[in-house]
Amino acid sequence: MTRTPLRLAVIEAEKILAAAGVDSPRVDAELLAAHVLGVERGRLPLVPLVDPSVVDAIGKLVARRAAREPLQHITGSGWLGSIPLVVGPGVFVPRPETDLLLEWGLSVSPQAPVVVDLCSGSGALALAFANARPDAVVHAVELDRVALSWARRNADIRGEAGDTPIRLHSGDVTDPKLLASMDGTVDLVLCNPPYVPDGTPVPPEVADHDPDIAVFGGADGLDVIKSVISCAARLLKPGGWVGVEHDDSQGDSVPQLLSARRVMSEVEDHVDLAGRPRFTTAQRRP
Ligand SMILES: C[S@@+](CC[C@H](N)C(=O)[O-])C[C@H]1O[C@@H](n2cnc3c(N)ncnc32)[C@H](O)[C@@H]1O
Repeated sequence: MTRTPLRLAVIEAEKILAAAGVDSPRVDAELLAAHVLGVERGRLPLVPLVDPSVVDAIGKLVARRAAREPLQHITGSGWLGSIPLVVGPGVFVPRPETDLLLEWGLSVSPQAPVVVDLCSGSGALALAFANARPDAVVHAVELDRVALSWARRNADIRGEAGDTPIRLHSGDVTDPKLLASMDGTVDLVLCNPPYVPDGTPVPPEVADHDPDIAVFGGADGLDVIKSVISCAARLLKPGGWVGVEHDDSQGDSVPQLLSARRVMSEVEDHVDLAGRPRFTTAQRRP
């Protein structure tokens, strides 16, 4: 049996992924190899030679990634903050840029905060918040039945890992009575809603694998965001905060929508590491 240097298998994988138009072919090749070997990516240099069966297994996963299946669907997990999340068909894959919204939310939270994550998808923001802040009471709202079942799986996993359990709600942010019993009691509303303007070209990973309901937000992408702002204005206690992620084309429109609410103050837009407008925050007037 001829063993192959892992380095060569990874270089070959990288070439295939680059030719398929994958954004980060080297990183993805290494992560797929690490997944097959069951080691962390940083430990790959400690694996000099691999059996043909390993090369074969890496090749199969590389072929799926070259067909533009999301990396996280192939490995079965994504990340937000410090926690892994199981993801797959029917649920939005958490993105690294949402870490910024999470960090901001953690930075403005008082002791024992009541937090609501609207449009929760896999439960990413709610569960990452609960992991970082065991004293928080965290609610998560999601409309889509399939996404909600992924959120339930993640909530069970995090509960078993010892995190404070979150409260999952099946609900629609456009419903003016959503969580009405909590009106005026919430310290922090976080939301990564569907915000891409309808008809915007998106990469195959998004077009073919993220559900449309998770991505597109109407002609200007603001349909769901408008409801999120109304909902936040109602739920927040005086002095409470809201943070809403948005498209990089909405760095003016989302702050304008929040500023138009008399109950909202301290409206501020935040950029990501590349300097693109990424999320807007505001405080309910104390
Ligand atoms: C961009 S994804 C974000 C998911 C998660 N917050 C994250 O950051 O990974 C938006 C989510 O909003 C949900 N959604 C869309 N419209 C909704 C509505 N009217 N009410 C509640 N959830 C909604 C979608 O099903 C999807 O799971």
